[in-house]
Amino acid sequence: MTDPNILSLLDPAALLDPHPIYRRWHEQSSVLWDSDIEAWLVTGYEESFAALRDAENFCQDWRRVGVDTPPSLLSLQTLDPPEHTRIRHLMLEGFKVADPDRLERTVRRTLDELLAAVEEQGPFDFVSKVAEPLTLRAVTHLLGVPEPDKDWFVPLSNTIVDGMDSSLRPECYEPGVAARAELTGLVGEWLKSPLPDGFTAHVVHRAPSAGVDHEVLLNSLRVVLQAGFQTASRFLVTGLLALLRIPPEQRVPVDNDKAVNELVRFAGPVHVESRACVHDTVLGDQKIRKGEIVSMFLGAANRDPKMFADPESLQWDRTPNRHLGFGRGPHACLGAQVAVQVARIAFGAIGHRYPNARLVSEPVPRPNVTEHGMHSLEVSF
Ligand code: HEM
Repeated sequence: MTDPNILSLLDPAALLDPHPIYRRWHEQSSVLWDSDIEAWLVTGYEESFAALRDAENFCQDWRRVGVDTPPSLLSLQTLDPPEHTRIRHLMLEGFKVADPDRLERTVRRTLDELLAAVEEQGPFDFVSKVAEPLTLRAVTHLLGVPEPDKDWFVPLSNTIVDGMDSSLRPECYEPGVAARAELTGLVGEWLKSPLPDGFTAHVVHRAPSAGVDHEVLLNSLRVVLQAGFQTASRFLVTGLLALLRIPPEQRVPVDNDKAVNELVRFAGPVHVESRACVHDTVLGDQKIRKGEIVSMFLGAANRDPKMFADPESLQWDRTPNRHLGFGRGPHACLGAQVAVQVARIAFGAIGHRYPNARLVSEPVPRPNVTEHGMHSLEVSF
């Protein structure tokens, strides 16, 4: 077997389209050892699905395999059941008290304002002019908290995403931890003044009776802000890029949940989710040992021909469509409904209003393997 050479995923061409590399790995094995980062690379759908659902054998809380985790990193995302269940249920309550109709109106109004500001001006950068401001407004509105200054928040938030690739770029680890701490400081500021009724006010009020530790609560609110902003804004960009690569005469407006989900399968931004193996076990045809890291390549699994017929094509009414773009199992995305709602509004409006929208230049990808995104996307509507 040839070494997969995971660092090749950082080449700009691979950041724009990693699928040729994923296919090469998958032809060797759906569960492949990489000696550079000493981890298993999982490209098969069935194997990814199995590991994501199996919190007993594959943990998100790395303390279970002896890795020290500072309290500042303990959150919804880094705990396992049963501790995870308490904070997850509390956050679910938060999502339930948020009003989807109000969110819909806010997103539509904000999108109209942003598009009005750019549609007459010729080519513009979709990332900074639409995707980021729209998503920041949506996520803070959902949380019922003040919107931070975008020029402070976005670079800080991107530093956290860079930190998620620290097995490939070790220099990104420390800045990522520091940026998380700074963002948790913002959450602490929110709680100093009374908040309007809604998501955050509800979970803060309910945390003591739900048995959720205050620091875990703060960190988890940070996770909702960070995960929600990054994934949803990056998806507007990776999704639009996929749509603009279709010739105008073959495009359809992506204005319904089914079509948005097909776009998440095909061009979702989250490419990797990792777990640590807790007990010696078997995944696919490989023996996995306690302590080893297993990285599920969701982007690859979402194009596994064993699961999806004609996986390289966009089929807007694909049914069923059990893609892994929102994860699966105990840590599956809590904001999937919100993400689909925002994307449906944005892609629907763009598709209907600007049928001849086009790319002005090739996008510049961010150097992120875990969560794909672009520095800029120059488009003309
Ligand atoms: C297209 C947009 C989105 C994509 C592709 C996406 C994808 C994902 C994925 C793959 C996971 C699983 C992580 C894992 O297995 O460890 C996840 C978890 C999560 N997502 Fe999303 N997400 C999106 C939007 C959102 C939004 C808008 C929010 C919040 C407003 C959100 C909040 C969360 C949270 C809180 C978790 C952690 C859940 C847990 O660990 O229990 N996501 N997301």
